[in-house]
Amino acid sequence: MRYKVLAMLTPGEEISGEKISEQLNISRAAVAKHIKTLRSEGYDIDAAPKRGYMLISTPDGLNPGAIYSKLKEDPVWHIETMEEVDSTNVRLRQLAHEGAPEFSVLIAEHQTAGRGRLGRPWFSPAGSGLWMSLLLRPTLPPQLAQLLTLTTATALAEAFEQLDLDVRIKWPNDILTPARKKLCGVRCEMQADMERVEWLVVGLGVNINETAFPPELAGIASSLSALKGESISRPAVAAAILDRLLVNYRLLEQGRFDLIRESWLKRAIGIGETVTIDNNGNKESGIACDLDEEGYLLLEQNGERKRVLAGDMVIRMERDEQ
Ligand code: BTN
Repeated sequence: MRYKVLAMLTPGEEISGEKISEQLNISRAAVAKHIKTLRSEGYDIDAAPKRGYMLISTPDGLNPGAIYSKLKEDPVWHIETMEEVDSTNVRLRQLAHEGAPEFSVLIAEHQTAGRGRLGRPWFSPAGSGLWMSLLLRPTLPPQLAQLLTLTTATALAEAFEQLDLDVRIKWPNDILTPARKKLCGVRCEMQADMERVEWLVVGLGVNINETAFPPELAGIASSLSALKGESISRPAVAAAILDRLLVNYRLLEQGRFDLIRESWLKRAIGIGETVTIDNNGNKESGIACDLDEEGYLLLEQNGERKRVLAGDMVIRMERDEQ
């Protein structure tokens, strides 16, 4: 209920305790109790006698309330936050095995063993980024699971655009700055049999307010705040992603991958260029020419088009890097 109270508070605008109590059908004392709890969670809420409550600031900490209060779509997500975990993907996989419901979300301030794609480690310091895993139980055959990877990348790019950030997608699901530095990566893990996907854990690592990276990432990684030139609210980023992902996931479930593909292609980088696809050390070069209806990348080699499902796309970096 306190998050419903929170949703009624607008920064810079006062609202009376009476109005909140009437609209939510709770007592004035209950309103005061929820305001007290919200303050203890880091919300700065002003209270003036006879005038009411006004939200001054929200915490940047990734607590569920801060995220729920910013969601605009259906709040279907069951959000849990933790201070520290080895990997949110590993933990959520365990929960999926134990029967956790679809739309479970796990966020950690810090990961001690964050996992990237293709067995790489993922830099996950405390306090600056978003390390989040989501549990989906899609009605897709396993052969089409890659559509979810592309759907996620599209949702991320659209969410960042809603936050006034100019970003690109690199096949299959990296989000880069226009100067081609990595802002965000996706690692999907799934459990399936021949006919259907039982669950899919979608792990997202978003660099948000990082100002420095370890030497091995310094030339190739960036953060949303570096791109925008100002610090960015992590709960706002989390909420924008969850909202957009829900919309695109519903589209995918309705068989409208065509719309997602269109949006993906509009934002894609590397298409029309000579690229190398590295699949566990197996390298193939060609011109990346398109993405097909089943989510395969079409790689043109000696005039013939080859369908590629997985791998790491190596593209040229911009000379004038951000
Ligand atoms: C990539 O290599 O591009 C994918 C990175 C995915 C990192 C995220 S952080 C949250 C989730 N937990 C993990 O251990 N990995 C993913």
